[in-house]
Amino acid sequence: MQASSTLIAPSILSADFTRLASSIEIAEKAGADWMHCDVMDGAFVPNISFGPFIVQAIASCTKMVIDTHLMIADPDRYIEDFVKAGSHQITVHQEACTHLHRTVQFIRSFGVKAGVSINPATPVSALEAILPDLDLVLVMSVNPGFGGQKFIPSAIDKIRQLHSMRLQINPSMVIAVDGGVTEENAQSVVSAGADALIAGTAFFKAADPAATAARIKALTR
Ligand code: DX5
Ligand code: ZN
Repeated sequence: MQASSTLIAPSILSADFTRLASSIEIAEKAGADWMHCDVMDGAFVPNISFGPFIVQAIASCTKMVIDTHLMIADPDRYIEDFVKAGSHQITVHQEACTHLHRTVQFIRSFGVKAGVSINPATPVSALEAILPDLDLVLVMSVNPGFGGQKFIPSAIDKIRQLHSMRLQINPSMVIAVDGGVTEENAQSVVSAGADALIAGTAFFKAADPAATAARIKALTR
């Protein structure tokens, strides 16, 4: 379990897509740990973003961990494509998987890390049985579908619950938080037990993304 310094994962969704390579370079030079790739299908979430082709382009120009967040229905259909695109870790939604255990094992069968995300209305208890099999849990602090939304405060309590659950069941599992993370709420998210903060707007729209990343990375529990 990562407990000393916080991991930062800029979400490429908030980057300037006319300058994808330089946006990735900004994240890399800022010392970002993961490049968070938000994949949306217009079915599980009310928005469409991009698919494996763009993830592959991103992966080809960085050494950062490619953290793929699949906000798609029936994700098993595309997991292999996202592995081939260069994902190091793939997160699916608990709400989108009928056979979540099978999906998690399927992700792991390719030698990549498996994560599960829960929407704001999904309780942490929904993950209890699958927790020993996970590398990562992604707590949504907004309803997925769009960048730039406001942080939903009840996520803090869910992070706290998850943190105490993992101490019992799976101490090496990483807790990541996604949606509306800002420099203002980052410390309370980390204090609750989060190891990794996804930051779209807070990173790419910052006056100085590198300084923002440095301040977030310096946060400790
Ligand atoms: C929401 C996405 C998030 C989002 C983060 O559906 O999963 O990763 O892009 O962006 P901000 O930090 O702007 O909320
Ligand atoms: Zn995301």
